Amino acid sequence: MLFGTHKIVNNQLTVGNVSYSEIGKKFKTPLYVYDQKLIEKCMKEYIEQFKSAMFKTKVLYASKAFSCLAMYELCNKHGLGVDVVSLGELYTALKAKTEPSKIYFHGNNKSIEGLTLAIESQIGCIVLDNEYELENIKKITKRLNKGINIMLRLNPGIDVHTHDYIQTANFTSKFGVSTYNDQKVFSLIKEIDREKLLIFKGVHCHIGSQIFAGNSFSKAAYTMLSFIKKINSETKIKVSELNLGGGFGIYYTEEDDPESTESIVQNLITNVEKYLTDNEIKIDSLVIEPGRSIVGNAGVSLYKIGAKKNTFGGKNYLFVNGGMSDNIRPALYQAKYECAVVNKMKAELEVRTIAGQCCESGDVLINNCQVAKSEIGDYLVVFSTGAYGYSMSSNYNRITKPGVVFVDDGKVKEVIKAQSLEDLIKNDILLGDNL
Ligand code: LLP
Repeated sequence: MLFGTHKIVNNQLTVGNVSYSEIGKKFKTPLYVYDQKLIEKCMKEYIEQFKSAMFKTKVLYASKAFSCLAMYELCNKHGLGVDVVSLGELYTALKAKTEPSKIYFHGNNKSIEGLTLAIESQIGCIVLDNEYELENIKKITKRLNKGINIMLRLNPGIDVHTHDYIQTANFTSKFGVSTYNDQKVFSLIKEIDREKLLIFKGVHCHIGSQIFAGNSFSKAAYTMLSFIKKINSETKIKVSELNLGGGFGIYYTEEDDPESTESIVQNLITNVEKYLTDNEIKIDSLVIEPGRSIVGNAGVSLYKIGAKKNTFGGKNYLFVNGGMSDNIRPALYQAKYECAVVNKMKAELEVRTIAGQCCESGDVLINNCQVAKSEIGDYLVVFSTGAYGYSMSSNYNRITKPGVVFVDDGKVKEVIKAQSLEDLIKNDILLGDNL
C-alpha cells in the first residue's frame, strides 16, 4: 500500500516528488527514506484530534520508534512532547532544544547518569518504575536540591493480541507495579507525597505495541480510572494526570486493518470523559504516547538488488544490500512487510523471498512475496520500516549503519549520515605490543 506523498510516475515510484531511483543514485544504500509531510500530517492529526473540554491533553512522541536531532525538531515544531527511555534519548532531545518540561522519562532500570541529567535539566516528569529507582531519585534530588515531578507506572493487567515480545501489561511483565498489588502502589504514592522535593503527578500505563483491538485501550483506560478512584479514597492524594501510553497499530500488510487516529483518540476521550462524569472524579490532564503510528508508514528502507538465487529446494531469492542489521523485526517478531522494485512499478510480478546479506539463514526480510521481475542493480524499497527500523539497527557482521534522509517537496535532506568504515573502528583499541 502506498502512503503519504508516494506516487507512481512513468513506472517509477516517487516520494515527495523525488524518485527513489534518483535518491538511490545520489546516496549510499541501504538508506532509510522518510516522507516528512506524512510524519507532520500524523503529528498534526494527534495534536488536533486529541482534545477535550474537560481536561488538558498532551501528545508525547515515543521517540524509541525513531529518534535523531531532526526528529525531535519536528516534535518541537508541532508542539508534541517526547517520551525518552534512556540517557541517550534524553541527551539527544535536549541537544535538539526540546523544552525540558515536555520530556517524560521512562524505563525500568534508569541509570544514575540518566536520572541526574533529567533532574538537573528539570524535565517534565520521571515515570517511576520501582522502589529502587525511587531511592535513587530521592538521593539525587537532595544532592542537587532540585525537585521533580513523578508519575508511577502501573500494570493494569490487560491481555492484548500482539506478539508476546511487545505485550507489556500481562501479569509477568517487567514494567511497572501491578494494580493487583494495590497496597504496594498506595505505599509508593504516599512515600512520593511525603518527600519535599518530589511532586506526585499521576499514573501511567502502556499495554503493548501494534495493537488493533480498540477495546483493549478502553479496558486499560477504565482499569486505570477505577484505580485512580481507589487511590483517591485510599490515600487522599490527588492524581492530576493519567498517561495511557501508546501502542496504536499500523498497516504493514493486508493482514492489518488499523483504526484511524481520529477514531482511536475520540474513543479514548469519550470513554475517559464518561467515566469521570459518572464517577464524579477529576483529572487535570490526559496523556498519550504514540510512536509507531507517527513514523511507521512514513519511512521505507531503500536497498539495491545485488544477486538472485533459485535454490534446488524451490525457494527463489532476491538478495539486497542490507537485511537484519537494518531491520531486525522480521527475525525478532516474525514481522511482515510489503516491498516494490522502484523503477519497475508496472512490471510483471514473480514470487521471490527478499533476503539480506548477513551471515544468518534467518536474515529474511520478506518471505515468498509477489515482486516485479527485476535486474541486478535495481532498487527495492521495503515499506513501513519507519518505526523500530533504524532505532533497532545494529552493526552485526560489522555492517555499517545506513543513513537517514527526509524527503519534502522535491528536497532530500540528510538527517543521519551513514556510518563510515572509520566510524566502525573508532572505539576499537589496537593492542599492538600489549597483545
Ligand atoms: N510508551 C511506552 C511506555 C512504551 O514502552 C512504548 C513502546 C510506547 C509508548 C510507544 O508504543 P508504539 O506507539 O510505538 O507502539 N520494538 C518493538 C516495539 C517495542 C515498543 C516498546 N514500547 C517493535 O518493533 O515492534
